[in-house]
Amino acid sequence: MRSVDDLISEGVSGRRVFLRADLNVPLDKARLSEGAAAITDDGRIRASLPTVQALRDAGARVVVAAHLGRPKGAPDPQFSLAPVAARLGELLGAPVPLTADVAGDDARAKVAALGNGDVLLLENVRFEAAETSKDDAERGELADRLAGLADVFVDDAFGAVHRKHASVYDVAGRLPHYAGRLVARELEVLRRLTTDPERPYVVVLGGSKVSDKLAVIEALLPKVDRLLVGGGMCFTFLAAQGHVVGTSLLEADQVDTCGRLLSAAGDRIVLPVDVVCADRFAADAEVRVVTTDAIPDDLMGLDVGPRTVEVFGSELANARTVFWNGPMGVFELAPFQDGTRGVAQAVGAIDGLSVVGGGDSAAAVRQLGLDESAYGHISTGGGASLEYLEGRELPGLAVLADGSGS
Ligand code: 3PG
Repeated sequence: MRSVDDLISEGVSGRRVFLRADLNVPLDKARLSEGAAAITDDGRIRASLPTVQALRDAGARVVVAAHLGRPKGAPDPQFSLAPVAARLGELLGAPVPLTADVAGDDARAKVAALGNGDVLLLENVRFEAAETSKDDAERGELADRLAGLADVFVDDAFGAVHRKHASVYDVAGRLPHYAGRLVARELEVLRRLTTDPERPYVVVLGGSKVSDKLAVIEALLPKVDRLLVGGGMCFTFLAAQGHVVGTSLLEADQVDTCGRLLSAAGDRIVLPVDVVCADRFAADAEVRVVTTDAIPDDLMGLDVGPRTVEVFGSELANARTVFWNGPMGVFELAPFQDGTRGVAQAVGAIDGLSVVGGGDSAAAVRQLGLDESAYGHISTGGGASLEYLEGRELPGLAVLADGSGS
């Protein structure tokens, strides 16, 4: 796989680079008119800067493509990348114009006007239905237009490499292609997690749906020393142990699978011993901490309890490698954030490699005001890193590794 640094050594001054980035940041919809101020977590934009800056410094004409949210394949102002263009411009200290279309007349005109070192952002690629189409020919037609905007392709969108989308996958087959610095860094860390990790190796999983995590649990169980399970997904495991879980999140059709995993894992799966419960999902709800064998019928668990933070903390204290994906509770609401905060702090305190696996966990670190520098790596790709750890082939990486288009 060639890297953007190989491209820079080859000489990129004056060349048009199609740079696929993952700039899919959370927005406060009520503040959309305020531009960059609507972005609630700019972590992905900051993580994209090293590659953008290196290309600018080398005199490239940088055409950035990205998606935002899941629009329905047509322009939709609430999914416009305008706030992202504004924030990218602020961080670069240079204007970043946004095109009015994805790969039409306006995009072509603005690309033609680029000077060396300039940066342009294409409007949300998902405004074109073909971007996410399952039909190769449909994606191919869009990829032809996108590839026509540039001379080379650099993929730095680690968070989207598991998607077989036109701007991630098909463009790479049409242009000489290179991996960006963020993709290279993410892969280096994931390889350390999968190739002979230093032990004890502890994985912490949370988040709401256990069905989303079963494949990664199956893949990781033979490799880890401990798998600590919190978040909404723990209740299906607790039900499989015969506990009553009240009105907590429960995937009844997965109870048997969780039971099978628990028997196969022996003491390697560690579940919460207490939970923070409430009668409703609200910041002003009355909360109660109960042990997991005494969850009242009419209450729902919305965070792991303080005793669980201690238990998980002592499992983490000796770990030399940790991967954490998924919050321990509803950390967006103040009464239910202590579990995520406590476990996140224990992950950051280990003496070894600590990896935060993207998505909600990365957002939790920042929103809870934790020190990002405590972690060895904060991934930008939740889904992508989980699929990598499952051992699946990721289309966006496979296409970078092969020699086509070059
Ligand atoms: C993400 O947010 O995980 C990536 O940006 C991919 O987005 P998607 O799940 O909508 O494809």
